[in-house]
Amino acid sequence: MATRVSICLFVLAFTFSILASSPVKISATEDEAKEFVLTLTHSNFSDIVSKHDFIVVEFYAPWCGHCKKLAPEYEKAASILSSHDPPVILAKVDANDEANKELASEFDIRGFPTLKIFRNGGKSIVDFKGPREADGIVEYLKKQSGPASAEIKSAEDASSLIVDNKIVIVGVFPKFSGEEFENFTAVAEKFRSDYDFVHTLDAKFLPRGESSVTGPLVRLFKPFDELFVDFQDFHVDALEKFVEESSVPIVTLFNKDPSNHPFVIKFFNGPNAKAMLFLDHNSELFDAFKSKYHEVAEQYKGKGINFLLGDLEASQGAFQYFGLKDDQVPLIVIQTNDGQKYLKPNLEPDHIAPWVKEYQDGKVLPYKKSEPIPEVNNEPVKVVVADTLQEIVFNSGKNVLLEFYAPWCGHCKKLAPILDEVAISFENDADVVIAKLDATANDIPNDTFDVKGYPTLYFKSASGNVAQYEGDRSKEDIIEFIQKNRDKAAQQEGSKDEL
Ligand SMILES: *[C@@H]1O[C@H](CO)[C@@H](O)[C@H](O)[C@H]1NC(C)=O
Ligand SMILES: *[C@@H]1O[C@H](CO)[C@@H](O)[C@H](O)[C@H]1NC(C)=O
Ligand SMILES: *[C@@H]1O[C@H](CO)[C@@H](O)[C@H](O)[C@H]1NC(C)=O
Repeated sequence: MATRVSICLFVLAFTFSILASSPVKISATEDEAKEFVLTLTHSNFSDIVSKHDFIVVEFYAPWCGHCKKLAPEYEKAASILSSHDPPVILAKVDANDEANKELASEFDIRGFPTLKIFRNGGKSIVDFKGPREADGIVEYLKKQSGPASAEIKSAEDASSLIVDNKIVIVGVFPKFSGEEFENFTAVAEKFRSDYDFVHTLDAKFLPRGESSVTGPLVRLFKPFDELFVDFQDFHVDALEKFVEESSVPIVTLFNKDPSNHPFVIKFFNGPNAKAMLFLDHNSELFDAFKSKYHEVAEQYKGKGINFLLGDLEASQGAFQYFGLKDDQVPLIVIQTNDGQKYLKPNLEPDHIAPWVKEYQDGKVLPYKKSEPIPEVNNEPVKVVVADTLQEIVFNSGKNVLLEFYAPWCGHCKKLAPILDEVAISFENDADVVIAKLDATANDIPNDTFDVKGYPTLYFKSASGNVAQYEGDRSKEDIIEFIQKNRDKAAQQEGSKDEL
């Protein structure tokens, strides 16, 4: 779970920069006229959904900022789509309302807003993966409510539907019937929100590949690597696997070009270990790195590692997340799915292959993110970093209260003066240490500490018992807790050097 969270955070760090650039329009006037977005509750949800072939439902919470930003855009999209033929219905559910909570849990709603598309009277449900402003919502839903695969009847159709920077999957058929066509359509239906699907009777319209084929054949166009691949196995499973595998680049590029971002998100959501090489893409060494890295990626295809090449300028979120420094660049880091990280800083193109092999052979030690050890540490509340966690907390033989905080966290700021007072009250007690660790800048052992929010307080007694402090965050309660749970043994059993 903790790993999943950290990977999500990482994707967030990446996508944040992507989303930050999209403009947010907030309508100034409250529209008191007809509302186009339907309001659903637990009492009429199933009834309404079952009556529609296509209905979009937003699960929101009144306090959620992103929901408030979305509301006017969603309403505008609903009003435009109400005159679409056939009409596309947009609805919303207040998932925060006690009465609707069961409904929200039925659809596994974990964040707000979450939008889902219900097709076929609710028999098929998929996540809405489109944009969040009115025009984008309209475009996306027009496409989603139409057929899963569009027909190419001319070269013009082909050039407007087979776009250069997207993955487009084309079915070439001698006729639009039969099992192959049905299986293709089923796969298109399933993946329609992830990729574009089209079909044609004539391969001559297609921009690349052998044009005399009559099919049945699937030709997948992609903006990277070999640019198109043909496939002829029409078993549904085989076709699905082909689509998923062929649509991952050998090396995913991460830079400021938004057309790469869907692939970056796919990279982070994938099941494999993630190798990431970061360097300045304008550097004169870029081509040398790129070609060596490509060779390695090619060599490890299908062996459980995916590869990303990140531009320094676009990757600041990742640097912060991993605790990396600009003077370590070029560098490669591999993150495994259990949260371990492996790092090789100041990389040269010829280091890549041997280092990845060493990693694969289990010969590279995991890397731990740590702030530098502070030179002076004489405030009442001691500063702990990942590299001093053993020394100050586990091996000191003292009773330690440790706060995990984040620099931006308001509750932590409120707690700071209280912890100061607690520390001062123990100033003459050599057996008690009050300490803090910036959990955003230091890796912490996840098997000992379960830090899901900030601040999180842990207490480690002199003899090594670890417990989370869940009491009131008042000076009195914290002191009382320490007095009650501390061991007195440390001092008598010997000096700290021995422990
Ligand atoms: C569903 O029920 C709620 C509460 O009873 C009501 O406010 C809402 O208008 C109903 N929605 C529709 C589409 O009938
Ligand atoms: C279509 O898919 C089904 C399910 O995978 C499979 O049994 C069938 O053989 C496929 N048809 C063709 C022509 O490949
Ligand atoms: C903690 O991380 C290790 C490896 O880093 C992983 O194997 C383990 O499953 C994680 N434990 C929890 C509770 O997330």
